[in-house]
Amino acid sequence: MLNEPKTEKFKIEYLQSLETGKDAKQSWGQDVKEGLNQYPKSIPPKYFYDDRGSLLFEQICQLPEYYPTRTEASILKQYSGEIAQITGTCELVELGSGSSTKTRLLLDAYEQQKKGFKYMPIDVSAGILKESAIQLKQDYNSLDILGLVGTYDEALSHLDSFASQRRMVFFLGSSIGNFSDVAYDNFLDKIAQVLNNGDYFLLGVDLQKPKSILEAAYNDSQGVTATFNLNMLNHLNNRFKGNFDPNCFKHKAIYNEEKKQIEMYLLSEKKQKVNLEALNLAVSLEKGEKILTEISRKFDVEDTKYKLASKKLKPIKIFTDENQWFALILSQAIK
Ligand code: AVJ
Repeated sequence: MLNEPKTEKFKIEYLQSLETGKDAKQSWGQDVKEGLNQYPKSIPPKYFYDDRGSLLFEQICQLPEYYPTRTEASILKQYSGEIAQITGTCELVELGSGSSTKTRLLLDAYEQQKKGFKYMPIDVSAGILKESAIQLKQDYNSLDILGLVGTYDEALSHLDSFASQRRMVFFLGSSIGNFSDVAYDNFLDKIAQVLNNGDYFLLGVDLQKPKSILEAAYNDSQGVTATFNLNMLNHLNNRFKGNFDPNCFKHKAIYNEEKKQIEMYLLSEKKQKVNLEALNLAVSLEKGEKILTEISRKFDVEDTKYKLASKKLKPIKIFTDENQWFALILSQAIK
């Protein structure tokens, strides 16, 4: 293009296993194979996010019943300035950036402090990452963007490999709720590892609340969450040459009050066999059998602070909304 400015500060890097080689598909599919060979069956939630899934998730974020996005955005709106003031200028690294819509609230605050800072969005979905980088570049001229297409693990390993200025890693939307206890623990270890002494970690967590509110948020009346859940099967079909028929499954989400987590399932509506050719995998399902596609844990602020502190991520300030439905916890790495 002729009118492109000389300093085009926008780059996207593909981290290894997402590239479309044969080996890559193998390494991505191993977890599907394991999950579907277990009882009860499960599929990791990262498979929600092909390009269509990412768009469906954007739609979920706008549903009247799905309060987390709106609530977190309102907290960011109110406190981004304060967050930027506490941390000072830093490189902003976002895990699971998606459309980066809420991120703009933070970028606004940091932009007011200094021109020309760096933003590293990280997402498994290349489509949404590129699209949002293009949009951001238009609206934040002095922003230096380096997007990474990859999983959290891939991205964190990659980050670990180069030292830099002061950093704030942030992980919004309560995506940390997808992790099992062990994965949660390992994830925080990894975060602590990539941060230098004095760096920051900003974590968004959805808080515990009555079952009725939670179940409505994951069983919306327009059926977008159902479509999002079922789309995972299309994604697996495309990626691994599968023959799931999404019409033979039903979406269901329940709140497990004991474990304090939403559990999202796909229910097989009949006895059926499915093949994923590229994984050399045959799956048999009974009528009514459930596949767990996601847990979304709901947090307690005190427990979470304690957990962070145990990883030498010292909580320095908690930001929440008037109903205490959602919280942003800012911690600082102490080495
Ligand atoms: C992106 C994992 C935070 O758990 O609320 C929304 C995903 N699933 N509706 C969540 C989701 C169904 C979302 N996270």
